[in-house]
Amino acid sequence: KKVAIGIDIGGTNTVIGVVDQEGSVLAKGNIPTGKHMDVNLYLDDMQAEINRVLDFINEEIEVMGIGLGAPNGNYYSGAIEFAPNLNWKGRVELVNLLKERFEYPIITLTNDANAAAIGEMIYGEAKEMKNFIMITLGTGLGSGIVVNGEMVYGHDGFAGELGHVRVEKNGRECGCGRRGCLETYCSATGLVNTVYELIGTSKLPSVLREKVHQGEVTSKMVFDAATDGDELAKEAFRYTAEKLGTALADFMTFSSPEAFILFGGLANAGDLLLKPTYEYMEENMLSCFKGKVKLIQSGLPGADAAVLGSSSLVWQELNKEVLA
Ligand code: BGC
Ligand code: NA
Ligand code: ZN
Repeated sequence: KKVAIGIDIGGTNTVIGVVDQEGSVLAKGNIPTGKHMDVNLYLDDMQAEINRVLDFINEEIEVMGIGLGAPNGNYYSGAIEFAPNLNWKGRVELVNLLKERFEYPIITLTNDANAAAIGEMIYGEAKEMKNFIMITLGTGLGSGIVVNGEMVYGHDGFAGELGHVRVEKNGRECGCGRRGCLETYCSATGLVNTVYELIGTSKLPSVLREKVHQGEVTSKMVFDAATDGDELAKEAFRYTAEKLGTALADFMTFSSPEAFILFGGLANAGDLLLKPTYEYMEENMLSCFKGKVKLIQSGLPGADAAVLGSSSLVWQELNKEVLA
């Protein structure tokens, strides 16, 4: 059986999955991302974990390759560059370093949100779509832009960094060193910061007010509180939706997608986020686009979505080789 190793590099955790061509995850493991400043030590962990995970599998397998998704991962260079939400500063030559450790036919890297978009095309809601924009709402905000059935990489490979479109002139400080980026408002971190702000500036009642002294509000808590009718938590979601919906209305003009697909932690808030975001988007939309774009949640299965996306890179590369 042919399998691919999908690796999703997140700010705190790296998830490793062995996936077959039908998209079944045969085995899974994980290692911390942030523990080592030295990339080689991190790759030691990764290599050991890959071997451990492969050992779990009882059937005959042929590993076709490794697909990696990472914040600020560049498909052209195979390196992670300038990642605001990772500990490594500068450039991490991930693909080259892994090629020294593994002999698989394919070792490839792309941006984490691009990986999610490719997974969505193969296994999710975008199977029949040629034009869509994937928006991932986790620690940061990532995006993958697909136009005419192809991932948009652009001249340098960094196309689709929509999380760093600035939506506020002197807004919140961003990990990228600038201010007012969309991801400082519309991400799990952004939502929590909105709660902290509202606690200071509003009189809205909230169960979250007690939590703030311990500095331990999480996006999950905000979601639970909002679901229970908490006024401040609801306002935090409305504000997030306003920022996101307004931005999506503008993104519409880039590539006229058929759908915006929301993925990741915050997207799991479902209608609490989707409904108001849709309303703000439509309200701010250029007339020619009004009523024409869908706003939907990712169809990739929850816990495995990211490794599925990353593993799908391997099949995509193999396909390209066949076609070339
Ligand atoms: C990074 C993107 C990444 C996103 C989600 C952003 O801060 O710039 O490359 O896709 O976070 O991880
Ligand atoms: Na991207
Ligand atoms: Zn930024």
